[in-house]
This record gives sequence, structure tokens and C-alpha cells, in this order.
Amino acid sequence: MLVLGIETTCDETGAALVEDGCRIRADCVLSQIPLHERFGGVVPEIASRAHVQTITRVLERALGTSAFGGSSPAAGGESGSSGSPVDLVAVAHRPGLIGSLLVGVTAAKCLALAWDVPLVGVDHVHAHVYAAALRASPPFREPPEDIFPAVSLVVSGGHTALYLTRSWTAHSRIGTTQDDAAGEAFDKAAAILGLGYPGGPAISKAAEGGDPRAVPFPRTLLDPESLDFSFSGLKTALLYHARGQNAGRSSPLRPGLDVADAAASFEEAVVDVLIEKLRRAMRRERVETAIVAGGVAANRRLRERLEEFARAESVRVLRPDLPLCTDNAAMTAGLGCRLWREGVRHDLALEAQPATVP
Ligand code: KG4
Ligand code: ZN
Repeated sequence: MLVLGIETTCDETGAALVEDGCRIRADCVLSQIPLHERFGGVVPEIASRAHVQTITRVLERALGTSAFGGSSPAAGGESGSSGSPVDLVAVAHRPGLIGSLLVGVTAAKCLALAWDVPLVGVDHVHAHVYAAALRASPPFREPPEDIFPAVSLVVSGGHTALYLTRSWTAHSRIGTTQDDAAGEAFDKAAAILGLGYPGGPAISKAAEGGDPRAVPFPRTLLDPESLDFSFSGLKTALLYHARGQNAGRSSPLRPGLDVADAAASFEEAVVDVLIEKLRRAMRRERVETAIVAGGVAANRRLRERLEEFARAESVRVLRPDLPLCTDNAAMTAGLGCRLWREGVRHDLALEAQPATVP
């Protein structure tokens, strides 16, 4: 079964072709980073307009690089066995920026109608988890099935959540953030330190030359049993460290500030909290497998610490391949295929939903 996946939840326009839920035939992502960079964050109106401008090109590229020999179906390319180029259209229809979501959902409906193929809406946060079932490049393999129940930790720019995961399609949320998402905290920390956007990679790069124990930033763990997260205290501590007590974001950086030490210490504090919450969740749920996904799962220090954690606790930690940590449409197509096979059906009444569903 060949599935076209469409991703437009935030600031990446993505289209991918995935066969049988695991073999990636094409995966195209057009990032809007250059458009949002000078604002230090995603501007929703700019994001939705950019999706409108680029979605057709991204779709054509995904379709053209697969079985169509360079010609898109719209241009009269070869068709699949049923007369349509794919068997199913899957789209990330929640959660996300409403204007951005609408572009992907509308494109998906148009294609499903024009090609007369079914349509499935996919939860973007669940799709991040499914990215760990995929390989970014050949050799591809069937997703592992012997890992459930597992605990999933999704850490991205818009979401930080822990799930009890019973299968690749069944997730119950057991923890979430009370304020910023982990990726958002990285983005704001980079802005505080005068580093670039997006903040995660910028902090990570600056941290390479720093000492992670140089600044004793707080680790907010909330109640001893809590599986929720809070990063606002850490963010304020970094602001005061970088720009002075009670400083604002536009106050100048403190003379003599060691940016590398501050970045490394901030990164270590975030990673400490993520690992501790993951440990708590796995112990509480008595599971032996963790899946850690989302943009922040690309973080080098987090990946190192997860390896140490897996060894120390004798557990298994799955993470997506690096290119599949951040937003992409391959994970949407893959999960869409699974959902379809499990009987999930949507039609042209499918709605874009900005809010997270528990
Ligand atoms: O999953 P994603 O592409 O989009 C959302 O669904 O939100 O995640 C983007 C987030 C950004 O906040 C970015 O700063 C963060 O992931 N990120 C990282 C790294 N690469 C991306 N954070 C820490 N370290 C990284 N290497
Ligand atoms: Zn995402």
C-alpha cells in the first residue's frame, strides 16, 4: 500500500511517499526557517502563507521522485494499479497552528477527491512517536512490535508529553508541560544568549565548548511523583544569569558572561529533567522500553545521556534516525497506513484541530 503523507502543522512543509507503513520512497521537507529567523520564532501568518506558496511544489517533488519518473500525476504521469498514484492520503490534521494545518488538510482533501482514494487524518504528536518505527534510508525494516507496552516521550518545539504506549497507534498521555515545551525552552534560551534560531541546534553547538556543571541551574521536578514538566523557572534563571538579576530580555549581556558554559549548563539541566521524568514514568508503568522522539530528540547530549540511562537501567530506548526527529511527512504517511489498516476512516468532513487531544 503506497501512502502519500502531508505535513503542515507548523513551519515545515512536508510531503512523503511511504510503502506498507515502513519503506520511505520519497521524503521532502521544505523548512521555513529563513522566513522566521529574524523574528526569533514562528510567525503563524507567515507560516500559513508560506505553506500555500510551497505545498504544490513539495507535493510534486515527493511524487515526482518516486514511481513517476520525474513527472507529477497532475502533469499526466504514470498511475498506480487503481488508476491513482497512491492508495491512501494521510495528513497531520492536529495539533498545530490552525492556518498551517488548514493548508495541509485542504491539499489532502483535494487530492483524495481528485484521485478517488481514501483519506486518513493523523495526530502529529503520535506521528512523532511513529518516526521511531521508520528508518530514514535503506535498508528499511518492519517496525518492531515486541516493545509494547512502552513509555513515549515526545519533546519538540510545540509539545512535551509522556505517553503510555500500548501499540504504535495507542497512546494515553501520562504527563505534559505546565508551561513551555522543551524545544521552545531551547529556542527562548538561545534568544536570551544571543544565539541563532532555531535555538536547539544553536545551544547544542555553543555547548560543545562549555562546562555543563559551570552554572547550577535549577531542575524543576515538581511533586516527587509528578510526570509533568515545567521549564519557565530554568528559563528565568538563565535570563538572570546572562543579563543580570531582574533583567529583561532586551537588557545587555553581562560583561564576562561565558556563553558556552551557560549553554552547556542549560542543556544539561533540560536533559537531567527529561531523563528523570522518563525514569519515573518507566518505573511507575513497569515498562522496559522507551521511545524518545520530536525535534529535541536530535540533541546530541540527550542522545548520549539516553544511552547511559539505557545501560544503567537495563532498558531499551528507541529514537528516530536524526532526519526523522524534526517535522517530516514520512512519519505521517507511516502512521496513516497503520491507522487505515486498523480500520480508521475519515472523509471530506475531516477538520483541522489546533488543540492537543489527551
Ligand atoms: O519536532 P519539531 O521539528 O517541531 C515541532 O513539532 O514542534 O521540533 C522543533 C524543535 C525546535 O524547538 C528546535 O529548537 C528543537 O526542536 N531542536 C533541538 C535540536 N534540533 C531541533 N533542540 C535541541 N537540540 C537539537 N539538536
Ligand atoms: Zn512536530
